[in-house]
Amino acid sequence: MATRGFPEGFAWGAATASYQIEGSVTADGRGASIWDTFAHTPGKVLNGENGDVAVDHYARYAEDVALMGSLGLNAYRFSLSWPRIQPGGRGVNGAGLDFYKRLVDELLEQGITPYATLYHWDLPQELQDAGGWPERDTAYRFAEYAQVAHEALSDRVKHWMTVNEPWCAAFLGYGSGDHAPGLRSSAQAVRAAHHLLLAHGLAAPLLKANDCLVGAAPNLYAVTPVSDSEADLDAARRIDGLQNRFFLDALLRGSYPEDVVADLEPFGFADVVQPGDLDLIGGKVDFLGINYYSRHTVSADPDAAGMVATSPFASASPWPGAESVAFVNAGRPVTDMGWEVDPGGLHEILTRVAKEYPSVPLYITENGAAYVDTVADGGVDDQERLDYIEAHLAACHDAIADGVPLKGYFAWSFLDNFEWGWGYGKRFGLVYVDYETQVRIPKSSAHWYGRVARHNGLS
Ligand code: NOJ
Repeated sequence: MATRGFPEGFAWGAATASYQIEGSVTADGRGASIWDTFAHTPGKVLNGENGDVAVDHYARYAEDVALMGSLGLNAYRFSLSWPRIQPGGRGVNGAGLDFYKRLVDELLEQGITPYATLYHWDLPQELQDAGGWPERDTAYRFAEYAQVAHEALSDRVKHWMTVNEPWCAAFLGYGSGDHAPGLRSSAQAVRAAHHLLLAHGLAAPLLKANDCLVGAAPNLYAVTPVSDSEADLDAARRIDGLQNRFFLDALLRGSYPEDVVADLEPFGFADVVQPGDLDLIGGKVDFLGINYYSRHTVSADPDAAGMVATSPFASASPWPGAESVAFVNAGRPVTDMGWEVDPGGLHEILTRVAKEYPSVPLYITENGAAYVDTVADGGVDDQERLDYIEAHLAACHDAIADGVPLKGYFAWSFLDNFEWGWGYGKRFGLVYVDYETQVRIPKSSAHWYGRVARHNGLS
C-alpha cells in the first residue's frame, strides 16, 4: 500500500515533443519547421545531429502508446507539429491531423488521458521567413492554427496547452541563438516573448470551446542570490523577473512586473505591448503547467564559476539586461546536463505559485533528468534517474500536504530523444531507445514509475 498517497484522479504521465521524437519529417505533406533548418545548419547541434528520424515515433506511435499503457501511466503530454497541420503556416493538412487522431484514439483505448501542447518550438519555416515570433502577426497565425487543431481533436482531447517554455522559445531562439531560429538580438527576443504570450491570449478562448481546459507550460526555476549583497540580490531579482515573474504575472494577473518592464526598456519593450494585449493574455488559463528542473543560484560577479550552458555552442547571453549575471554551482549533485538536483526548489516553486497566484490548478508538465545510461543484460538500471524523480515526487507530495492544488505530474521524457542543441547525447527517457535499431527498453525508472502510478503514491 502507498504510504504517501496522492489525491484521487491524480494524472501520472510522461511528456514528449513532436520534433524531438517523431521523425518522418516529410511524411504526409509535413512542411519544414525552424528546427529542421537550424539542425541542418552546421555548427548548431552537437555532432551535426537532427530530428529527421529521431525515435521514429511517427511510425511507432502505437507500439509506444501500448508500452505506456502496460507500464501503468494514465496521462500523456505530447505536442502537435504545427508544420504537419499547417505546412507553410496556413491552411489545413488533413493527413497531418490524421496522425494525431490516430495517436489520440490509441491513447484513449489504453485509458490514457491526452494532454496536447500546441507549440513546442517547431514554428513553420515560412512564418520565420516572414519574421517569426518578433512579428505580431505570428501570434494571429498561431490562433488560427490552434483553431484548426481544436476543431479536429477537441472531441477527444480536453486538455490543451498553448506554448511550451516561452522563455526558451524567445530568449534562446532569438536572444542567445542557442535554439532555432538562432538569432542573436535582445530586442528581437523581448518582442518574441510578448508575442508568444499574445499567441496564448488569442488562442485560449478558442481552445475552451467543447468543454476543454486551457493551460500554458512555462519553465520556472527557484532562484537564490549567492550572497545577500545588494548586487547579488539585484541579480536574483532580474533573473527571477525574466524567468518566472514575467510569464506568471502576464498569464495569471494580466500585467508585466514593473521592475522587469523597466529593465527591458533599453530593448524597446514598451513599444511592443499594445493597449489591450495584457487583458487578452491574463487570466485565461484553467490550469498552469510548470516545467521544473533546477535552481538558479546567481551572482552579480561575472567571473563567478559558471554552470553548463544551454547549448554546447552557447556564446551569447539569453538574459536581456542581465548579461553579466553569473550562474553559480552551489555544490549540489548535478545531472548529465550539469544541472543541480534540487527537489526543494520544486516545493518552493509550487508553494510560491499557489500563494502568489491563488486558485489555479497546477500540473508539473515536465520534470526529469539526463544521466548516462548503459544497457546490461537487456535492461537499463538508472537508479540516479529513479532517485531524482522520487525526490521530486516527494516534494510534490509535501506541496499537496501544504495545500497546493497539484493535479498531475509528467516525467520528462517518456522516451530518450533529440535534446535540441545536444542532439542525441543526453538521455532523459524513462524508456531507453537504441538509436540504431529503434528498440525500446523500459529503464528501471519506468517500471518503478509505473508502479507509483498504479498505486497512486510513493511507498
Ligand atoms: C524542456 C523542454 O520543454 C524539452 O523539450 C527539453 O527536452 C527538456 N526541457 C530537457 O532539456
